[in-house]
Amino acid sequence: MERFLLLIYISRSFSLFVLSFVGINASDINYSAGRYDRSLKPPFDAGLEGIGEVVGLGLSASSHFAVGDTVAYFGSGAFAEYTVVPAKESVPVPAVKPEFLALLVSGATAYIAMKRLGDLAEGQTVLVTAAAGGTGQFAVQLAKQAGCRVIGTCSSDEKAGFLKSLGCDRPVNYAAEDLAKTLREECPQGVDVVYESVGGSVLELAVNSLATKGRLIVIGFISGYQTASGFPKFSGGTLPVKLLQKSASMRGFFLPHFLGDYREALSSMMQMFAKGKLVCEVDYGDSAQGGRFVGLESVFRAVDYMYAGKNLGKVVVEVAPPSVSNSKL
Ligand SMILES: NC(=O)c1ccc[n+]([C@@H]2O[C@H](COP(=O)([O-])OP(=O)(O)OC[C@H]3O[C@@H](n4cnc5c(N)ncnc54)[C@H](OP(=O)(O)O)[C@@H]3O)[C@@H](O)[C@H]2O)c1
Repeated sequence: MERFLLLIYISRSFSLFVLSFVGINASDINYSAGRYDRSLKPPFDAGLEGIGEVVGLGLSASSHFAVGDTVAYFGSGAFAEYTVVPAKESVPVPAVKPEFLALLVSGATAYIAMKRLGDLAEGQTVLVTAAAGGTGQFAVQLAKQAGCRVIGTCSSDEKAGFLKSLGCDRPVNYAAEDLAKTLREECPQGVDVVYESVGGSVLELAVNSLATKGRLIVIGFISGYQTASGFPKFSGGTLPVKLLQKSASMRGFFLPHFLGDYREALSSMMQMFAKGKLVCEVDYGDSAQGGRFVGLESVFRAVDYMYAGKNLGKVVVEVAPPSVSNSKL
């Protein structure tokens, strides 16, 4: 299998190369639209994560890595065949497997958000929206591991079957059934924790469905990302009274603000994966129009595929670089 190249460095004169896959994230289009870093002026590199193999390195980097090491990284500019990455930002991984790539942003987000903001307790009910996607799949599994009853939303029966296979107690295919009605029937006492990625009317429904002392974690609001503002409509006028009457809370989560928890999260999830206790579902786009996502030119197809709600698990693009031998940088 051909792979993608990154260049890792400690300083300008000390560098190393690796080969890799890149991951697609819902926020790629937010980043490209300049919503993440308003000081960025085009042209700038897009892409948030990659995984590959070291193929060359400078002297400083050689104290941390060797040619042939497999590494991953979470940072901007990942959509490239060759990338320079500071050695301290590179994460050693056991193999160049896209399953590890799925942990870098999607998995770490679910792990840290649930741990730090979820206050999950055994027997509680957790609602995960976009549950069969990149990050949702991990939220479902982690909530199940915490002994919670999990309801997960998705848009097809195939995704609902996948959620069932992850242990999700009540997958809800909202294209076929009314989510509001199902939540009323399934959770008469309300939902204790919501891992919410969609925003707009789904967020409003989730707020209305909170239990007393419920916690809603704002992970994203994908339903608005393709609009000019990037935000979906939300009538928040009655939000204070709704939260107060239930002593409920809403908390935002943004992974770059929790980097202190990052290494522990990755290492813990890698161990779970190695022991067969965590599924990292990867979608290569085999069922997409045009077939598997191979080469940087397929990034746009992969993004469209995700925004059409077609993906099951983490969307990845395999980058096929020209072959390169050891470099003397
Ligand atoms: N806060 C953070 O640090 C952080 C980090 C990573 C991700 N996120 C957020 O987590 C969410 C999921 O991101 P991801 O990269 O893991 O994507 P993903 O879940 O793999 O893919 C997006 C999924 O969202 C669902 N969706 C629901 N309404 C949609 C709409 N109106 N348009 C498009 N898709 C819709 C679709 O699944 P169904 O069709 O099955 O509903 C789609 O498959 C996003 O909101 C993202 O911004 C946040």
